Amino acid sequence: MTRRMTSTTCEAREARRRALILGATGGIGAAVARHLARDGWQLLLHGRNGERLQELCASVANERPPVANERPPVANEREPFGPPVANERQPFGPPISFPGDLTEWAADPKTMPPLEPVDAVVWCAGQCELAPAKMLRAKALERLLRVNLVAPLVIGGWLVRKGALRPGGTLVFIGSESAQAAGEGFAAYAASKGGLASAARVLAREWGDPEKGPGIAVHCLEPGTVDTPMTRELIATFGGLKDGHEQSMIPPETVAAEVRDLLARAAQ
Ligand SMILES: NC(=O)c1ccc[n+]([C@@H]2O[C@H](COP(=O)([O-])OP(=O)(O)OC[C@H]3O[C@@H](n4cnc5c(N)ncnc54)[C@H](OP(=O)(O)O)[C@@H]3O)[C@@H](O)[C@H]2O)c1
Repeated sequence: MTRRMTSTTCEAREARRRALILGATGGIGAAVARHLARDGWQLLLHGRNGERLQELCASVANERPPVANERPPVANEREPFGPPVANERQPFGPPISFPGDLTEWAADPKTMPPLEPVDAVVWCAGQCELAPAKMLRAKALERLLRVNLVAPLVIGGWLVRKGALRPGGTLVFIGSESAQAAGEGFAAYAASKGGLASAARVLAREWGDPEKGPGIAVHCLEPGTVDTPMTRELIATFGGLKDGHEQSMIPPETVAAEVRDLLARAAQ
């Protein structure tokens, strides 16, 4: 279902628990956020739309795992039948919102807000635009490459160089099965995701060996068609997917579970 391209993994290391999810406001990103929150990760959640991001942070805060000796939420004394008062103790801390446009940060990484080092970065941000190959225009192609290829490589490299992704950490890119398939109309998107997959192999080689580099494991997952706002928008625009693919769309939770498993294994 999800084609996995796994690159170098590192030696076992102690459990690590702080993750940055880029594109967390999207269908796959939000599912990854929920899965990692349930696993006890402290999260920095990224998206462009600040309001949507705040809502996501609030909803993901409810997903965090139960903590030993934690008091359950107590009823509001003044309003015994009213909503419970939120428990003040949040040992993992609620998710932190990290808004911004990735293409702007990639153009000048110094404009990226500072961030406490994380143990994992999950790159779920991306865009899809379809067009027959003979209609491709430089502007549209460059726009897509900037989001899907330039930003992950430049910002990924920046995070590693600055130690914002800790040595021994894990970087997961969400690529796409389209990189390997010959879907009509997908030339630009496939090029961007194919480039990402190829580059991920190189990053894994350059960064994966703890003797020579930071010992960062790099993975690129390549899911098939996932049921997310991106896909729904394409269906609405083009009146359906080819070969009735709507019936066999992968739930975003399936991709999220793979990301969670990868990170859980890396933390062992
Ligand atoms: N859906 C599929 O069938 C499928 C299949 C294989 C791979 N993928 C890949 O999986 C990833 C997530 O896809 P999805 O379906 O979850 O898409 P989605 O629901 O459309 O979400 C896309 C995410 O990317 C963010 N984003 C887009 N452009 C950005 C930019 N310039 N700067 C910062 N953030 C930006 C969006 O932020 P805002 O909320 O601010 O817009 C959103 O969080 C993408 O890379 C996609 O190519 C998707």
